[in-house]
Amino acid sequence: MFQIAIDGHSSCGKSTLARALARELGYIYIDSGAMYRAVTLFFLENRVDLYDQQQIMDNLHKLEVSFVLAEAGNRTLLNGRDVEDRIREMDVAAKVSPVATIPEVRRKMVKRQRELAQNQGVVMDGRDIGSVVFPKAALKIFLTATVDRRVERRQRQLLEQGHVIDYEDILHNLYERDYIDSTRSDSPLMKAPDAIVIDNSNLSPEEQLAICALLARHRL
Ligand code: C5P
Repeated sequence: MFQIAIDGHSSCGKSTLARALARELGYIYIDSGAMYRAVTLFFLENRVDLYDQQQIMDNLHKLEVSFVLAEAGNRTLLNGRDVEDRIREMDVAAKVSPVATIPEVRRKMVKRQRELAQNQGVVMDGRDIGSVVFPKAALKIFLTATVDRRVERRQRQLLEQGHVIDYEDILHNLYERDYIDSTRSDSPLMKAPDAIVIDNSNLSPEEQLAICALLARHRL
């Protein structure tokens, strides 16, 4: 089965593109960032000390991340509970990158990501999809955009969900996450050597979809 990997920095519009491309190709769409966010929420709710290896291991066994896949938008489930909206809030965003540096967390998520993609074509977005999760993906895209565009997009997205957050706070969160994601030792955010870079600062969602659908049809 074919896999399409879409990686890139925070708030580059990866999920918008991945969702549209999956729909266009009749594949499923999986948001791997949502999985790390769900783990983070579990750790926050259960007051897990991120520096305590034993606590991390004990708690990792207690959590399961899954999805309800739907045309109208996937819903992320944490132990069967719909946490899709909750995991987008700023307290989760502030802690997700440190959580995503923990090798045991990554091992569990990567295993789950590969399971979810069994027997069906998948478009998955994240940070290490082309480099680690699906190194043999049929198509790898590395998305990037100017910081201004990225902050604007994240601010609009949060506003649509009813959260009014300052430009500066979002900017700080983006910088911090990109820094931690790019410098961690276990599967850092990076462009896979065979990934195609797209700067979407001045591209509409429709234009991005058209480019990627063309690339995908050429490869599949
Ligand atoms: O994609 P999103 O911004 O929701 O991802 C949230 C965080 O999850 C990222 O900042 C990163 O720390 C982590 N992540 C990761 N590997 C992935 C996807 C997300 O480390 N494949």
